[in-house]
Amino acid sequence: MDHTLPRIQTKTDMNPSVFNNKTIWITGASSGIGEALTTELATTGARLVVSARNAADLDNVASRCRERNAKVTIFVEPFDVAEHHLFPAVVKRVLDRTGGIDILISNAGVGQRGSALSSNPDVVRRIFDVNFFGAVFLTQGLLPSMLERKSGRIVVISSVLGKFHLPGRSAYAASKHALQGYFDTLRAEIAGTGVEISIIRPGWIETPMSRNALTADGVSYGKSTKALSRKMSPEECARRILHVVAAGKNDAAIGGIEKWGGVLRILFPRAYDRIMGKKMSEFIYKIT
Ligand SMILES: NC(=O)c1ccc[n+]([C@@H]2O[C@H](COP(=O)([O-])OP(=O)(O)OC[C@H]3O[C@@H](n4cnc5c(N)ncnc54)[C@H](OP(=O)(O)O)[C@@H]3O)[C@@H](O)[C@H]2O)c1
Repeated sequence: MDHTLPRIQTKTDMNPSVFNNKTIWITGASSGIGEALTTELATTGARLVVSARNAADLDNVASRCRERNAKVTIFVEPFDVAEHHLFPAVVKRVLDRTGGIDILISNAGVGQRGSALSSNPDVVRRIFDVNFFGAVFLTQGLLPSMLERKSGRIVVISSVLGKFHLPGRSAYAASKHALQGYFDTLRAEIAGTGVEISIIRPGWIETPMSRNALTADGVSYGKSTKALSRKMSPEECARRILHVVAAGKNDAAIGGIEKWGGVLRILFPRAYDRIMGKKMSEFIYKIT
């Protein structure tokens, strides 16, 4: 049975000329939101660098981009964002090939389906290695070149769970909360240099992320899950992300009503904790 909820369909205006002649590096470009960002950007006049672990999937995405725009320049740079020791070589290769990156979209990520108590420590570390340290150390590697050019934008794809929490996603929510703290601080430290930071928090998006999510013992969850509200298509999410980037915003949540979860958590913390208590945990485990 297909549990997928209907997609939200809305139009978002995005001025493609903002990205013309820009060189944009997208991690996690082989699937879901990253793939949708890549195919959307392929028609804007941007030069693209696409990364993920699976080189064949990246080649397929690059071919689809060329079908949309035969003139697009697209470099495929496969690597694992959890292999941090490789970053200096990866960054050097990308800079040598492109001459400089205008926008890094740090999007690669992995989800979680397992309780805090039962999750193997290796799973908790893996989620941080991919979602947090992957974005942090890649930024550390690339930032000096942006500072030298006095321009650039780091776009971090966090999650609405960077501001609140749901049962079964302890390490995932923690990794996204950590991104918010780190990149907010970095923004303050580099203010006035010409390099900007955008933190974007998508809500429930219809991608294979739940299938790829890590369970307590580290295997892939393998199932699509229901969301607590309607899911948005990755294409619509990508258009909204690019709209935020084009507008030069520091921070944005994208999605349906779930994007207000962080506000609810701040304004009514006790009510939120009551809602997320035992009964809700059991309900969420049952339906997701
Ligand atoms: N879907 C949602 O509802 C949702 C909501 C909020 C935030 N997000 C965030 O959006 C981002 C993209 O997620 P998605 O929904 O598009 O999921 P997805 O379809 O599973 O895509 C994840 C992407 O990340 C790459 N990736 C995973 N592990 C990697 C690693 N170790 N090294 C390099 N690349 C890796 C994957 O490619 P390979 O497997 O080939 O490496 C893939 O391209 C994530 O940061 C996620 O946390 C998603």
